Amino acid sequence: MIATAFFSSTPVPFDIEGHRGCRGLMPENTIPAFLKALDLGVTTLEMDVVISKDRQVVVSHEPYFNAAFSIKPNGTPVDKKEQKDLVLYQMNYADIKQYDTGSNGNPTYPEQQKLKTYKPLLSEVIEQAETYRKAKNLPAFSYNIELKSEPSGYNKSQPEPALFCDLVQEIIAKRLPPERVVIQSFDFAVLKQWKKGVQAGKYPDVRLSALVENLRSPEKNLEELGFKPDIYSPYFKLLSQDKIARLHEKNIRVIPWTVNQQDDMVRLKKWGVDGLITDYPNRAVGL
Ligand code: G3P
Ligand code: CA
Repeated sequence: MIATAFFSSTPVPFDIEGHRGCRGLMPENTIPAFLKALDLGVTTLEMDVVISKDRQVVVSHEPYFNAAFSIKPNGTPVDKKEQKDLVLYQMNYADIKQYDTGSNGNPTYPEQQKLKTYKPLLSEVIEQAETYRKAKNLPAFSYNIELKSEPSGYNKSQPEPALFCDLVQEIIAKRLPPERVVIQSFDFAVLKQWKKGVQAGKYPDVRLSALVENLRSPEKNLEELGFKPDIYSPYFKLLSQDKIARLHEKNIRVIPWTVNQQDDMVRLKKWGVDGLITDYPNRAVGL
């Protein structure tokens, strides 16, 4: 499991990241999913965050209640036609917490355990995961926190990057050392904002990860970002051995998502990726 980094003499572990905790096995982005991922031996917990009306940092992939698995406080499932009206940015966290996001399971992930649970706060995830780590004497793991943001949603489904970053940094700065945190986003304005905060001495100097799902070359995407991120994180089917080598030449680590089949995991590891993000950490730990 331990590989030597190509650009440093310090051995770094191959980074197995539990996607949304371990979505293949437990309700996504919930406390049970994160604790299960730790049981399975992940080196990083991957998660998504959005902002509520009362400015809480909530762990959720969508900025609304996904009809595929959400149940309203009155016990009826969220309907596809209404899901996008249930905008978390327009709801206080006390109301968000009343929705059950686990009892119905997720039909796309039939192995996922069904249990009553809810969308947690980022602060709660950190507190629970750290308590678990100490109780089980687990090694320190990282938190890969994706700020779910897109320019068309500014001030509608999430705040603009400056406020979003301020709210997230307030939670992590008090609770985690910077070396245990990665901030990731598809919205490069968020990454640029964080970099600016670091340069101004305002934000913790965490690792920054550029998420990519477009067909442009890594060089083009890096040019658009305007600085060298610590990690380049593309959809795994966009990768080639050559692209990995080109990124490594720039001392940028490569961690693709979301890799769920073992043959893909084995091939990507052979190509030299530095880790992978998976819904099924149980399929990756023995690589
Ligand atoms: O953060 C990597 C991966 O999670 C990006 O895709 O849509 O699952 O957040 P998504
Ligand atoms: Ca994500």
